Amino acid sequence: MKVHGMPGWSNPWFRKSVIWLIVLTVGAFLVGFVLLPSVHGDFSAKGLWASICRAAGVPSDWSFGAKPREAPTATDVVLDRAMGKEGSRQAIGRGATLALNCTMCHGAQGMSTSDAPNLAGQYPEVIIKQLMDYRGGKRSSPIMVALAANLSDADIADLAAYYASLPKARTAPTTYDEALPALVRVGAPLRNIAPCVSCHGGIDQKFGAPWLEGMPKGYLALQLKAFRSGERGNDSEAQMRNVARTMTDQEIEEVSVFYARKAGTPSE
Ligand code: HEC
Ligand code: HEC
Repeated sequence: MKVHGMPGWSNPWFRKSVIWLIVLTVGAFLVGFVLLPSVHGDFSAKGLWASICRAAGVPSDWSFGAKPREAPTATDVVLDRAMGKEGSRQAIGRGATLALNCTMCHGAQGMSTSDAPNLAGQYPEVIIKQLMDYRGGKRSSPIMVALAANLSDADIADLAAYYASLPKARTAPTTYDEALPALVRVGAPLRNIAPCVSCHGGIDQKFGAPWLEGMPKGYLALQLKAFRSGERGNDSEAQMRNVARTMTDQEIEEVSVFYARKAGTPSE
C-alpha cells in the first residue's frame, strides 16, 4: 500500500528510520531543554514552557507567566523635591477649607481619634503622593479613592500645605536615646531589612517616607500587613513590601505598638 505523496513510506526501513528520527529529536530536546536545566541548582520550577525558554536563552522577562517586577498597582507618581516645600499662606487657607471634608475621620486638627491615619504635621510630599495614588487607583481604600477622585492637583497641594502647617501634634522623632525594637534600631540584616529609623525620620528621612510616630496602632498594623501580602503595592521600588515581606505577626505588633505609643494627646 502506498501513501499518496509519500514515496517510500511503504518501505519498512524508511518508515522505521523516520520514526526513530522523531523519537531521537524529541528525546534530545527533552533532555537538553527540560531535564538538564531542571537539575541546575538555581533552577526555579516555573513549568515546562519557562524551562524551555530559559534553556534556549530567552531573557527571563520575556518568559510567559513570569510575574512582572512591579505589581500592576505600581505608583505613577514621581516624587519631586518641590512637593516638600512649605505652602504659601493662601495655599494653607484654601487647604483648611477643603479639609472641612476630612475632619470627620482625620480629626479637626488632623489628629484622628479613630483608626484613620493622623495627617497633622505629616510631610507634604507624603500627603500629595498618597492622595494621587488613591486618585489613580494605585492604593485601595473605597472611602479615600472616592474622595480623592474629586480633587485637582491644586486641591491636593493645598490640602498637603494645610496639614503640614498644623502644630506638630505629632510626637517627637525616634532617637537612639531610648529603648527601640530591634527592627526599628538595626533592622534585620540577614533578611535584608533596613532599620525603620533609617527611612522614617528621627535619624534619617527618606523623601516620601511617612511620619509614623503617634499613628493609630491599628492603622500601622493594617498597612504593614497590606504591604506584606502585596495588597498595598503603591510604594515605589517595593521599598516597604521588601521590608514587610518577611515580618512576622509578632514583629508587626511590636513595631506598631512602638510607633503608636509615642502618640501625643489628640486635639479635639
Ligand atoms: C470617612 C472617613 C474618611 C474621610 C472623610 C477622609 N478620610 Fe482620608 N483616610 C481614611 C482612612 C480609613 C484612611 C486609611 C485608608 C487605607 O487603609 O489606605 C485614610 C487615608 C488617608 C491618607 C493617607 C495617609 C497616610 O499616612 O498614608 C490621606 C493623605 C488622607 N486620607 C487624606 C484625606 C483628605 C485630604 C480627606 C478630605 C478631602 C480625607 N482623607 C477624608 C478615612 C477618611
Ligand atoms: C528603605 C526605606 C524604608 C524602610 C527601611 C522602612 N520604610 Fe516604611 N515606608 C517607606 C516609604 C518610602 C513609605 C511610603 C510608601 C508609599 O509611597 O506609599 C513607607 C511607608 C510605611 C508605612 C505606611 C504609612 C502610611 O502612613 O501610609 C508604614 C506603616 C511603614 N512604612 C512602617 C515601617 C516600619 C515599621 C519599618 C521598619 C520595620 C519601615 N517602615 C522601614 C520607606 C521605608
